[in-house]
Amino acid sequence: MHGMAAIEVENLNRVYRVFRKKEGLWGSLRGLWHREYIEVHAVRNVSFTIDEGEMVAFLGPNGAGKTTTLKLLSGLIVPSSGTARVLGHLPWNREDAYRRRFSLVTGQKEQLWWDLPAQESFRLHREIYRIGAADFQRRLDELSDLLEVGQLMAQPVRELSLGERMRMELIAALLHRPEVLFLDEPTIGLDVVSQRKVQEFLSQYQKQQRITVILTSHYMKDVEALCQRAIVINKGTVIHDGPLASIVERFSRHKIVELLFAGDIRSTDLSRYGKILESRAPRVRLQIEKHRVSESLASILSDYAVDDISVMERPLEDVIAELFTADDKLVPSNR
Ligand SMILES: Nc1ncnc2c1ncn2[C@@H]1O[C@H](COP(=O)(O)OP(=O)(O)O)[C@@H](O)[C@H]1O
Ligand SMILES: [Mg+2]
Repeated sequence: MHGMAAIEVENLNRVYRVFRKKEGLWGSLRGLWHREYIEVHAVRNVSFTIDEGEMVAFLGPNGAGKTTTLKLLSGLIVPSSGTARVLGHLPWNREDAYRRRFSLVTGQKEQLWWDLPAQESFRLHREIYRIGAADFQRRLDELSDLLEVGQLMAQPVRELSLGERMRMELIAALLHRPEVLFLDEPTIGLDVVSQRKVQEFLSQYQKQQRITVILTSHYMKDVEALCQRAIVINKGTVIHDGPLASIVERFSRHKIVELLFAGDIRSTDLSRYGKILESRAPRVRLQIEKHRVSESLASILSDYAVDDISVMERPLEDVIAELFTADDKLVPSNR
């Protein structure tokens, strides 16, 4: 099942030059005529292809280069080298024709006017994108229904909650019916209910419109609900591109072993096999290093009476959290 490529990224690089501040007064003075720069290689030889109608997760720790990549694909910044095509357009050419075919939504930056009701901002969008009056009204009704914000249209945006505002941002982003949508942490800071609403909306909308989506999110609930494929990036480099589920297999160094003992046991004796996650006699859950699972099981079975054993993968959420916090571990474990 291979469709048409909507997004093609080839050896994309982006280097930022940042002025290095010197310590102390003397440093600052020297800095006035002796500028020193350091180079931050934010995106490094990134390549991937995304088909039309795909929804792909773009994951990585803070500072990995996700936002920079989305900015490049949106044409907000220019690459240092390499290239990309989105729907056949070179993004940083900033053609009007391209602007009308994609949208970028970020959890940080708003495109709505703070003091105006959302409906006024939407009307401005209608002018900018030259959307016909009938189309505009139909889309607006549809989107505000799906996102359940119909009764908030006339309220100044600053009076809305963060979750309501994000839903308005999504409407603004979708009114011109883009074919490609870049979502940069769209649920960051939202309460669980709003997060859930945004997630359900995206799922429904994507199925309905077959829109191509790149989603960055730290909430694995979002990602698991919406994406089958994930591109994982660290220090600017793609380290995984494939099924979301295989991230666990590749990056987790542990498995979870659940044991049901026949008799009483002192669970502390088991700590030599791994971390005890839960101990409620006669049931114990252990986290054991992958390569030690079989030897540990053999040893446990010879020392104790065991009624039942199951070996499980760790939850994706935990594996990702570990990847995101300890970036020296960002090496596939079975390569
Ligand atoms: N405008 C900028 N100027 C200098 N450095 C930047 C700029 N934007 C991002 N960076 C740096 O580039 C790297 C990647 O940042 P970013 O793409 O925002 O990562 P992410 O979105 O994955 O958290 C980081 O080291 C960040 O500090
Ligand atoms: Mg970012």
